[in-house]
Amino acid sequence: MERQMLRYTLERLDQMGEILVCEREVDPIYELGGVLKYFRNKKPILFPKIKNSTVRGIGGLYGNREIMYKLLHMEHDNRLFKFMEAIANPKPYKIVDKGPIKENIITRNIDLSRLFPIPKYQEKDSSSFITAGVMVVKDPETKKYFTSIRRLQVNGGNQLSALIASPKLTNDFLQLEKENKPLEVAIVLGYDAFFLMASQVSSESYGVDKFEIDSALRGEPLELVHCETVDLLVPAHCEIVLEGKLVPGRRELEGPFGELMGYYGGVAPHPIIEITGVMYRNDPIFQIAFPCREEHLSNGLIREVELYNYLKNQVDVIDVNVTEGGGYRFNAFASINKKKDGDGKSAILAALGSNKDLKQVVIVDGDVDIFDLQDIEWAITTRAQASQDFVIVPGALGSSLEPSHDLRGVTDKVGIDATKPLGEVAERFERARIPGYEDIDIRKYFPKLV
Ligand SMILES: Cc1cc2nc3c(=O)[nH]c(=O)nc-3n(C[C@H](O)[C@H](O)[C@H](O)COP(=O)(O)O)c2cc1C
Repeated sequence: MERQMLRYTLERLDQMGEILVCEREVDPIYELGGVLKYFRNKKPILFPKIKNSTVRGIGGLYGNREIMYKLLHMEHDNRLFKFMEAIANPKPYKIVDKGPIKENIITRNIDLSRLFPIPKYQEKDSSSFITAGVMVVKDPETKKYFTSIRRLQVNGGNQLSALIASPKLTNDFLQLEKENKPLEVAIVLGYDAFFLMASQVSSESYGVDKFEIDSALRGEPLELVHCETVDLLVPAHCEIVLEGKLVPGRRELEGPFGELMGYYGGVAPHPIIEITGVMYRNDPIFQIAFPCREEHLSNGLIREVELYNYLKNQVDVIDVNVTEGGGYRFNAFASINKKKDGDGKSAILAALGSNKDLKQVVIVDGDVDIFDLQDIEWAITTRAQASQDFVIVPGALGSSLEPSHDLRGVTDKVGIDATKPLGEVAERFERARIPGYEDIDIRKYFPKLV
């Protein structure tokens, strides 16, 4: 029985009652993305009928925090430690001779748009885009496996353009390019939550094998098969694999594309991937991620680990939330047990140093729910004074995905210390409570209430 990748995930989602089936045929141009956007990627949706294709699609798979915890066998309270444990103690993966991914193999006359229903999402997007593909590469020196999601513009036939924002991966390609050598890649679609989470561990941990992190996280070896046309391993039970190479000496214009924060990213020359082989399961399911912030939850979950660790060095941190509204990158809330005057400000310094993309952070006490925006607003309103508690750092290194500064890639940073003071004055900040409130079961008073 299969226990890995998308088919198994679908069984589990079905058992949880968490999958919607779209009963109407959808056009992959705009309409499919429109349906996904309506549910903000919070609801997994299967599209059995996509115009001009016999292949099914699935989207909105991994954008809901509660569903993700269930798929990853985690609770909110132990998630950070389970991720840390897997990153610190990678486990071996397993190479198998065969797997369902080998059911269909194509190595000639590859036309990606004919094979799969690749969506076009937004009005000014330059083309159709593969947005959920996990790119597998091998570190040229250490031979360890590195996986990450990189959006892929469809250029026609077997050609894609890749947007790779990672300095390490870009550098590896540029080094090989100097010797006129390609970088082999495999793009994996139809994976499970463990595979996705491992792919979001930062390139800073390049050298750590992501297949091994995946195996540690899932609690059993990830099963992998050899590719047909490149020297790489891919999951035996995934839906679709596109094998190919980043071609030295060639660039193609990529973009515009409506990206993470809902703005169009510009047009620029990017490397080309030439697809040399396609493998897919019988009756494959094409995986889709609507290109807006909601599906970046996986990235945010890993950034929460980084943020927690940076805070832990300075203060007694309780919990962290790298927020959806901030693209799971730019904005965070953290709660701390304030023990000394100055803890709130130290927490701001630690948080803003945890990742260059983080632009804003709010620090609160443990009696504030950092997953409730109204509670955060309440804490800022009643526990912070701008002249004393807002810390502003002008013109620091930021992200080019966030357009508010005149210089792309530069940003002001701000931290808000919304913790209450210590000592006698703290009494002023005691939250009024009703004894026994938590034990009230409202359905006993209003049985007809659903
Ligand atoms: C749905 C999704 C789409 C993404 N698209 C891109 C992309 O187009 N280009 C990119 O460089 N990173 C993209 N990312 C982020 C990388 O996959 C992620 O940061 C990964 O961990 C690589 O690590 P690095 O950013 O440290 O290099 C995406 C992430 C997700 C979850």
